[in-house]
Amino acid sequence: MSLFAIGDLHLSHGADKPMDVFGPAWENYVEKIKEGFSALRAEDVCVLCGDVSWGLDLEQALEDFRFIHELPGRKIILKGNHDYWWTSAAKMNAFFEKHGFDSLSILHNNAYPYGECGAICGSRGWFYEESRGSDHDKKLIEREALRLEASLKAAGDREKYVFLHYPPKYGGYVCPELLALLRQYDVKVCASGHLHADSLRMAFNGEYERVRHLCVSGDWLRFKPCKIL
Ligand SMILES: [Fe+2]
Repeated sequence: MSLFAIGDLHLSHGADKPMDVFGPAWENYVEKIKEGFSALRAEDVCVLCGDVSWGLDLEQALEDFRFIHELPGRKIILKGNHDYWWTSAAKMNAFFEKHGFDSLSILHNNAYPYGECGAICGSRGWFYEESRGSDHDKKLIEREALRLEASLKAAGDREKYVFLHYPPKYGGYVCPELLALLRQYDVKVCASGHLHADSLRMAFNGEYERVRHLCVSGDWLRFKPCKIL
């Protein structure tokens, strides 16, 4: 069994949102995703780090979920800033069950055991800088820190692998609230997405405060899921 991650698939089977206008990396991206996932086996796990579907609600995202379900491996989904279909965990789980999407799970205030002693944790995250952010952003980051901590606590004493949509460190930016949680819970790996095109130049891939950070944006990975473990 291996653990993979990829973010920002930005699927739009049910919504009219052509992605090739965002540059050549996005040409035939659905085919590239299929090809990228062909390296996974049924027992593998892939975390989808947000911005999964352009669907405005679960029904509009149905064909995107079907596409993801049919890819090999178990897929664990967290929220990105463009996942307008996102609703309560109970509604999303009921929707997946109704359609037989048993390879899909939602990561939200919870954690999933991985292997003998590992755990998959995560949340959306947020960008917030004290000097530039608004009170609204401050509230959002406080809420996201609570969500991430709930997820880390749910993992108990297992070794923790964290997945976020927003990178907690990139370019000159750091998010002290989320980075402190990674330190506090002795997190080994933190994978995130959200960055595209020119902003990918600021992506941070490397070790920071004993945590291995990885950018797993779809177009950064050329739509081939990144093997984490
Ligand atoms: Fe995003």
